[in-house]
Amino acid sequence: KFPERVFSGVQPTGNLHLGNYLGAIVKFVELQRTHDCIYCVVDLHAITVPQKPEELKASIREVTAAFIASGVDPKQHIIFNQSQVAEHAELAWVFNCVARIGWLNRMTQFKEKAGKDRENASVGLYAYPCLMAADILLYRATHVPVGEDQKQHLELARDVAQKFNLDFAASIAANGFGEAFFPLPEPLIQGPATRVMSLRDGAKKMSKSDPSDYSRINLSDDADAIAQKVRKAKTDPEPLPSEVEGLAARPEADNLVGIFAALNGQTKPEVLSAFGGGQFSAFKSALVDLAVAKIGPIGAEMKRLTADAAYIDSVLADGAARARVIAKDNMAAVKDILGF
Ligand code: ADP
Ligand code: NA
Repeated sequence: KFPERVFSGVQPTGNLHLGNYLGAIVKFVELQRTHDCIYCVVDLHAITVPQKPEELKASIREVTAAFIASGVDPKQHIIFNQSQVAEHAELAWVFNCVARIGWLNRMTQFKEKAGKDRENASVGLYAYPCLMAADILLYRATHVPVGEDQKQHLELARDVAQKFNLDFAASIAANGFGEAFFPLPEPLIQGPATRVMSLRDGAKKMSKSDPSDYSRINLSDDADAIAQKVRKAKTDPEPLPSEVEGLAARPEADNLVGIFAALNGQTKPEVLSAFGGGQFSAFKSALVDLAVAKIGPIGAEMKRLTADAAYIDSVLADGAARARVIAKDNMAAVKDILGF
């Protein structure tokens, strides 16, 4: 039995959005009350696709500010960025040698991100799930709050942990770690909205990398930007239904109702009992007010925090120092187990 510990990460790739917030960050905040939490700005993951060095630093600070502005307490818990703790890359190499090529070949995110020109994708993009397994297991974390899109990667992390425990069972026992060195980390796909879709296309998830700025509400958006994006959000000509069944074949309507419900701490039927039968324009106005009320203050606080780069950098340095203590300890144990 492993002591419970939470780990999760967000990539510093710009355009932090409502999906990241409702799918992951809200849950990060909640878990602080019951668990030791480690939240990581995963910059090593960011460079699996091209990044501009002059923008990366700002994005790292932006994600850090978003954690704090949303309510993560960097004194009680740990906030740091991945590249400051070298053991992430070190354990990822070990896991590259544990995971099987066939496992990685099944990863749908790689297929989506690599697109048609797979031969030209980086090796890092392909090995990304092994680095993610290392991020989690370096701290022997037991619980991982994520959005639905990360479910498959979490399953791979569990497979890696299990194979390591089995392959090295004798050495794990001989080194005094009992029957298993790594816990099998559990995904917590429990944010208020675990799969927020694009505002322009109900078949695509809201994403940092979508070229259309109107596809997402960014946490840094001001009231005007939020209002414009919600008003332009794709809908169909029908009025809102009164029952959730009526949302079945209407992905854009379903997504907006889901966003409203998540932001307001309601269920979809509750939202529909207030707005069902009415026109989209009235519902959208209410959604603008709600989103501005909930997201606006976070964006303003992020702006205030990022203006003080020295403060953000001190949070990251302090977090890295505390993360490193755990990481070094566990990596030393892994090396003993491997026979290094
Ligand atoms: P992105 O996928 O936008 O590049 P990340 O990979 O950094 O963002 O993901 C950070 C967290 O946000 C992960 O837990 C991920 O599952 C969650 N997430 C990302 N997009 C969405 C979305 N559209 N809806 C819900 N959760 C999401
Ligand atoms: Na993602």
